[in-house]
Amino acid sequence: MKRIVSIVLALVMVMVFATVSMAGWDKCKGCHVDTGKPFEMGGKPVLTKAALLKKFKTAADFKKAAKNAQNPIMNAFKGDADLDASAKDLGLK
Ligand code: HEC
Repeated sequence: MKRIVSIVLALVMVMVFATVSMAGWDKCKGCHVDTGKPFEMGGKPVLTKAALLKKFKTAADFKKAAKNAQNPIMNAFKGDADLDASAKDLGLK
C-alpha cells in the first residue's frame, strides 16, 4: 500500500514538473490529446485537438470557452499567457 502511494506521488511530481517546463499547446495535450482516442475524465471525453479546432474557429472563441470551462481541472489553464500561446500553436487567429 505504502509503495503504491509513493509510486503515485512520484508520478504526480513528474507530471507537475513536466507541466511547469512546458508552454503553449504542450501544456494542454496531456488531457486534450493530439491524436487517437480522447482522454476521458469523469466519464466525459476531453475534446481532442481536432475536436477543439472543429468547434472553435477563432482564438477569441477558443479562449472564451477555455475560461468558461466548468471542470475545476481547467482552472490552472485559464491564464491569458497559456491560452494565447496555445491558440497560436493551434494556428487560431
Ligand atoms: C488536466 C487536464 C486538462 C488540461 C491540462 C487542459 N484541459 Fe482544457 N479541459 C479539460 C476538461 C476536463 C475540460 C472539460 C470541462 C467541462 O466539461 O466544463 C476542458 C475544457 C476545455 C475547453 C472548453 C471546451 C468546450 O467544449 O467548451 C477549452 C477551450 C480548453 N479546455 C482548452 C485548454 C487549453 C488551451 C489548455 C492548455 C493551456 C487546456 N485546456 C488544458 C481538461 C484539461
